[in-house]
Amino acid sequence: MAKENQVILITGATRGIGRATALHLAGKGHRVVATGRNAELLESLEREARDASLPLSVEAMDVTDDGAVQRVVAKTVEESVRIDALVNNAGYGLWGALEDLTMSELREQFETNVFAVWRLSQAVLPIMRRNGFGTIVNVGSVSGRIGNPAGGAYAASKAALSAMSRVMRMEVAAFGVRVVLIEPGLFRTDFQENQVNAQRVSDPESPYAEAIGKARKRRTGPFAGADPHKVAVRIGQVIEGKRPKARYSVGLDALAGTIATRLLPDGALDAAVRRAVGW
Ligand SMILES: NC(=O)c1ccc[n+]([C@@H]2O[C@H](COP(=O)([O-])OP(=O)(O)OC[C@H]3O[C@@H](n4cnc5c(N)ncnc54)[C@H](OP(=O)(O)O)[C@@H]3O)[C@@H](O)[C@H]2O)c1
Repeated sequence: MAKENQVILITGATRGIGRATALHLAGKGHRVVATGRNAELLESLEREARDASLPLSVEAMDVTDDGAVQRVVAKTVEESVRIDALVNNAGYGLWGALEDLTMSELREQFETNVFAVWRLSQAVLPIMRRNGFGTIVNVGSVSGRIGNPAGGAYAASKAALSAMSRVMRMEVAAFGVRVVLIEPGLFRTDFQENQVNAQRVSDPESPYAEAIGKARKRRTGPFAGADPHKVAVRIGQVIEGKRPKARYSVGLDALAGTIATRLLPDGALDAAVRRAVGW
């Protein structure tokens, strides 16, 4: 059973896919709690929603902060009684060859892209179970299926999210809660600008310095990609749908990548990816 006018909590709603999703869902009449860690961007989102008379409120919440997550979930339930949907969208990419990454860079990547999803899911599941209804949408990536050189930590985090979504989906199904993984391809957001370069990315002594330099040249220039509104629309369909699928590829490149992983042997796939990124 899918419901109209749902109470929806979204993480990382200050930019890109999260912001587009928050505005799209509020535009459809859902009560959206849009969360983020950048006060200025939260304010501008709140203003944009108010000007359009949308049912959207904003809350400061860094997804890696336990206290902030507990506070926002408790406040949402106090004000709206339920949380019908959670969109785990906040995330970033760590850039650097796997051998060069420090443990603390890796931990931070997993704190945001994986452990925070656990934190948020654990916080809302008791509410969803009590209501016998809920949808958790995890924003993964086609990179969780095909990682590329220098993007290995990000790819591993999204692969972990995929495994976690699959198991959680089975565990919570009996309570009326659905867990859906969205796997976008390339979308025009601030993702590249927000990418974190590993410390050793600029180290000329790194054994990967030359390859990183070549890959970096290919990476500069405007971040191409599709309109993030497309992802927002898919997330809306999932939340409102009666029987959403377990996972959705969004974007032609994501679809092509997914099909390639099914059809091509690993060697051919590796060669194609290395050629594409110049590694
Ligand atoms: N764009 C793509 O091509 C693409 C493709 C596949 C998957 N994705 C996934 O889509 C999701 C959204 O990315 P995007 O493309 O929209 O990138 P984006 O424009 O950089 O937006 C990322 C959002 O996540 C937020 N965020 C990051 N760390 C956070 C934290 N610790 N606490 C709270 N918020 C945090 C950012 O907040 P700040 O404003 O504070 O930075 C921002 O609002 C990510 O999970 C990403 O992996 C993107």
